[in-house]
Parts: sequence; structure tokens; C-alpha cells
Amino acid sequence: MLTRAKTNSENMAVDVILGLQWGDEGKGKIVDYLAAQYDVVCRFQGGPNAGHTIVIGDQKYVLHTIPSGIFREDIMNVVGNGVVLDPITFDKEIQKLESANIPFKDRLLLSKKAHLILPTHRMLDAASEASKGKLKIGSTLKGIGPTYMDKTGRNGLRIGDIMLPDFVDRYNKLKEKHLGMLVNYDSIDFDLEGEETRWMNCIEKLKTLQQINCEYYVNSQIKAGKKILAEGAQGSMLDIDYGTYPYVTSSNTITAGVCTGLGIAPHLIGEVIGITKAYCTRVGSGPFPSELHGSVGERLRKLGNEFGATTGRPRRCGWIDIPQLNYTIMINGVTQLVITKMDVLNEFEEISMAAKYKYDGELHDEVPYDMDGTQTDVEIENIDGWQQSLEGITDYEKLPSTAQSYLATLENKLGTKVTMVSTGPKRSELIIR
Ligand code: GDP
Ligand code: IMO
Ligand code: MG
Repeated sequence: MLTRAKTNSENMAVDVILGLQWGDEGKGKIVDYLAAQYDVVCRFQGGPNAGHTIVIGDQKYVLHTIPSGIFREDIMNVVGNGVVLDPITFDKEIQKLESANIPFKDRLLLSKKAHLILPTHRMLDAASEASKGKLKIGSTLKGIGPTYMDKTGRNGLRIGDIMLPDFVDRYNKLKEKHLGMLVNYDSIDFDLEGEETRWMNCIEKLKTLQQINCEYYVNSQIKAGKKILAEGAQGSMLDIDYGTYPYVTSSNTITAGVCTGLGIAPHLIGEVIGITKAYCTRVGSGPFPSELHGSVGERLRKLGNEFGATTGRPRRCGWIDIPQLNYTIMINGVTQLVITKMDVLNEFEEISMAAKYKYDGELHDEVPYDMDGTQTDVEIENIDGWQQSLEGITDYEKLPSTAQSYLATLENKLGTKVTMVSTGPKRSELIIR
């Protein structure tokens, strides 16, 4: 029997960073920091629904499709085939990098198999949401759902298609199909002609960027001994299969999505770095058992500046949720935890956590099939706050003892080691253990 031995360089060459909650955990900041230790950073799913904030010096950048390694020299950034790309929002991102003098062209590769978001995908997203009334998902309206529907429905257009002589015909065919579908909805306000012209102009600009067969590129990098970092978008609770369906996004946001989104085998996955805020947020509709509706939630929103990086919407806030995190740690195979936004809890006399779920009249550690229908409540446990600033602390041992106990409690309840603690938005505001 022929067996193919793994080379040393192949051993667990792809580390993964992903969000363990409902998104916005601070992935951009952590990827930007860690990217310096890698050769290639890859986005493997999602699209411009993501908003990853990176603060370098006094400058704040929000990336939507471009990987968060783009600010580092000598690092390649790959938009993998699991991503959906809108040429218009992508062009805006590129313009911002251009005006900041970031030489992105040599650092950026686009998978030919990544699907394109058309203006009519955005129209369908808006029309579908409007038709749902109270049951709306709270989508970012970037056309994500309709684009992934066309992908799985085998109708989509891919980046590689833009070089084909009949690309415009293919575009028109798909557009006509969408316009046929839109007849079933109430009409929405949308300047299709204007958006289409912009879209086609941006397609011309896309043609000037490097396109690759992502699966061959990534595997050849692994063979050459390069270190790869896969950057998740959204959060595990927004995963199409394992999230709070139907209040989810349309891609696999979990570790499994790295394999399909980049074209690599499961045995190549190394460390899985799961990020959680020291509390919890959600933007958009859907169940959120530990949500705080009153003044405490408002206080977290204010202190944490919890407003969406993509849509500017206020984020819903609540306490950290142990059953929810144990669920996403399990599904992702998380090997290390990163706790972000610890500083947001600085002023709290007491910090709470949702220790267990209450449903069907009993306490549970497991996330129920349908949190919405099951009326999930939480049992709260309290712990003393540290009530002091964490500014300037870069050594874990120098954290106030109460902050250390909070982290030790989390490690204990989550069975996973905390390896990094973020204490502010800047690159330097990070404790590495
Ligand atoms: P992402 O989507 O996971 O990359 O996260 P977002 O960028 O959407 O949201 C995280 C927000 O928190 C951004 O505004 C970050 O600049 C900010 N941030 C990240 N880490 C910290 C932290 O440790 N403390 C504080 N106060 N803000 C942080
Ligand atoms: P990052 O990568 C937070 C949410 C939307 C909505 C649902 C579906 O910045 O963490 P979609 O536009 O995908 O149809 O929206 O998912 N959502 C996010 N929430 N962070 C994100 O990305 C999100 N991307 C989508 O608010 O509830
Ligand atoms: Mg975000």
C-alpha cells in the first residue's frame, strides 16, 4: 500500500484565530499583532459583513475583506476561496490603504474561486430582510446570504471569471435572474444603474491584482515550511450550521471552514486560538441569553464603545456566557484562549458571568437546540471586580489579583488556557503569557 508521509514542515502548519461569540471579539487587533510571527495570513470565509478594527499609533483602520496582516511587511495576505467579495467595498478598502501608503499590491493575493457579490445580491438581501418584518435577521445588507445561495445553487460568478471574454454576458444573465426574483418582493430604493457602473469599474481594478489558485498556493507554502495564520470572520455563534439559526450568517465561521475555505487538509490545522471578550455582545437579531437590557448593559456599551465597525449599529451587551463558550470551544477544538476588552470591566465593583443555562425547568451546561424557542435563561455567578486601570500592564503577573482570579475562573470553567489578554485597542495594549 502506498502511504504518503507527512514532512516536518507540514506538521500542523496552519494556525487559526476565530471569534467564539457573535463576532466583533477583537479578531483584527489580535491577527494584526500575531501576523508578525507568520508568513501568510488568509481570510477563509465571510465577506464585507466583517469589520476588523486595527489601531496602529493614532491611526484606526477597519478592514472588511482584506486580511489583517496587510500592515506588516514581508507577509502575504490571501483572500481565500471561501470568501465572498464585493468589488465596490473592496475598492474602497484599497483606496484607504493607498492613501495610507500601504504597499498592498505585492502583499495581496485573491483566490480565483472566491465568489463575487453583485449589486443585485445586495438588492435581494435588502428585499428579503424587509419582507421578514419583525423576524428579520438583522443582516449587514452586504449581499452575503444571496451570494452564498448562488454559490451553493451553482449560479455564482467567481473572481477567476472576470478574465473570461463572456464575463459581461454571464453577469447580465445572473442579474436578470435576480431581477426576476425581485418581482416577488416589495420594491426597494436602489440605484441599480449607478451601482452597476461603479461595480464594472471596480472589476477593471480587480483585474490588476494578483489572482491565484488558493489551494495550490497555500499547500505549496506549507510544503516550503512557511507558517500560515487563518483569520476568521464573524463568530462561531453566527456559523451557518452551529450558530443560533436562522439568526446567523451564511458561511462556516468555525475551524472546519478553514479546510474548505483555503483548500487544506484537516491534519494541517495547528493551534486554534479562540477569542472572547471579557463580556459578550451581539449585533443584529436573535437569541442572546446573557443579554443585559437595563443600565448595566448600557454601561458596557458606553465603556466598550460597542457600535458596529461595519454598520455603526449599537451592539447588544451582556455578561460572558460559560455554556455558550464551552460549546464553541468544543466545536472549534480551541487550544488557547484570548480574552479581549478586559479594560472595559475596570470600573465594575462586581463582574458577573452566566454560569449555567436554565430551560425546561432545570439547570443545564449544554446549549439547547433552539435558544429562541426554548426560552433560555441564565444562572448568574458574581466575582469581585478589580476597580483599577490596567493601563501599561504587559505582564500577566502584574495584573491585579482580582483580575487574575477572574481569568483563573474562566480557565477553570472553560478548561482552556488563557494565553493573551487585551487591555485596550492599540497593538501595545496586550499581555502575552
Ligand atoms: P473584530 O470584528 O473581531 O475584529 O472586532 P471589531 O473591530 O469589530 O470590534 C472590536 C472593537 O474593540 C474595535 O473597536 C477595537 O479597536 C476594540 N478593541 C479591541 N481590543 C480591545 C481591548 O482590549 N480593549 C478595548 N477597550 N477595545 C478593544
Ligand atoms: P466580524 O468579522 C458581528 C451578523 C449580522 C446579522 C447576521 C447576519 O466583524 O466579527 P449577514 O450580513 O452575514 O447576512 O448578517 O450576522 N454579523 C456580524 N456580527 N460581527 C460580524 O463580523 C458580523 N457579520 C455578520 O449583524 O445579525
Ligand atoms: Mg467586527
